[in-house]
Amino acid sequence: MAQLRQFPEGFVWGTATASFQIEGGRNERGDCIWDDFCRWPGKVHAGDTGDVADDHYHRFCDDVALMAELGQNAYRFSISWPRVLPEGAGEVNEKGLDFYSRLVDELLARGIDPYVTLYHWDLPSALQRMGGWAARDTIYRFQDYAAVVADRLGDRVKNWITHNEPWVVAFLGNLHGQHAPGWEDLGLALQVGHHTIVSHGLAVQALRARGGADTRVGITLNFSPAYPASDRAEDVAAARMHDGYSNRWFLDPVFEGRYPQDLWDAYGYQVPRVAPGDMELGSQPIDFLGVNYYTRAVVQHDPRGWLGYRTLKPEGEYTAMDWEVFPQGLTDLLVRLTRDYGAPPLYITENGSAYEDVVSEDGQVHDPQRVAYLRQHLAACLDAIEQGVPLKGYFAWSLVDNFEWAFGYSRRFGIAHVDFGTQRRTLKDSARFFAAVIAQNAVEV
Ligand code: FCB
Repeated sequence: MAQLRQFPEGFVWGTATASFQIEGGRNERGDCIWDDFCRWPGKVHAGDTGDVADDHYHRFCDDVALMAELGQNAYRFSISWPRVLPEGAGEVNEKGLDFYSRLVDELLARGIDPYVTLYHWDLPSALQRMGGWAARDTIYRFQDYAAVVADRLGDRVKNWITHNEPWVVAFLGNLHGQHAPGWEDLGLALQVGHHTIVSHGLAVQALRARGGADTRVGITLNFSPAYPASDRAEDVAAARMHDGYSNRWFLDPVFEGRYPQDLWDAYGYQVPRVAPGDMELGSQPIDFLGVNYYTRAVVQHDPRGWLGYRTLKPEGEYTAMDWEVFPQGLTDLLVRLTRDYGAPPLYITENGSAYEDVVSEDGQVHDPQRVAYLRQHLAACLDAIEQGVPLKGYFAWSLVDNFEWAFGYSRRFGIAHVDFGTQRRTLKDSARFFAAVIAQNAVEV
């Protein structure tokens, strides 16, 4: 018997996107490190670029109409730094700021509350040429950029997210070389990570100084909940290591003003240079934590592996990203964050799945696996809420199929399908399912 499980009153429902992944409008902004990375042979699937993407820059009104059709009451998007400041600093592109201002007006006119991320990975190339996030100066440029954006949008935008997934910025971009700028250097990655945390603190100050009493500022982290492959002590220790590398390395500085000692020791001489006052800046009180969750990690001790472990691929169901579908991981994560980090208000700022979707002969996109993924993860949210977790909202990744970073357009995460030849959007079955959840503020399980 199906059961209707209710979400708390006032729950925030939205979809999430990011500037480089959807906007296009390449000639109306400065260059960013992803423009450069896309032109690095072999780095991005099929040589795909963000030049056009979903052409959202020119079609944002239609996209907001789509959101209204879904009934969502919030929308998380990011601002392209080089659209606002083409050189990263100095001259402001008023047309660029104006685009975001019109987007915000369009959202508010339809009762959709904007949740604005300042940095979702499109660093101006001009700043990368001066060292990018590895250069301390970049943190002050970020503060200035935050101030410019807040001055223009702060009268209407009340919810801000400074950074999206500093772990990805630091490690995928500078240790694993899979994201822009594409380097493979641990010391560099750790310094970059440190600067994202300090710049987060500076941006919190800049946003608060300009906003009213109702301004709320948070940060979004990605998580990889670690499960030991067995209950052997060495696997348990390995899982703890993975948790440190993936989760605590950013959680502890943001909430406790210090790096986790076990990882600090493991990184040896490569640890970041920390200036006096940095840890205080990075750990200022925030109003909420954004949680991005896709899958878990199963961890086994392996002396030859990175930090002494390797991750396994357990039997189970996998998405087109080859990520295991593991909703229990979301419940466990939310409960753990609440237990260990002072119970900040939490929002799921991203959760979703990629599958090989096609438009059927009936003109529809049938994506039963994504419907199941959504249903199970929403139920996982409710399990956490029932255990006392202060979860306030859920943003599905993503509104539309888009540029999936190194995978280019080969992975579809949207609840609306996009034909990249015609830019036609088609709501998938999962979008209709999500709309029904929003309408009832409840999920049938
Ligand atoms: C997250 C990113 C987001 C999207 C999803 C699938 O790490 O924040 O932009 O690519 O993964």
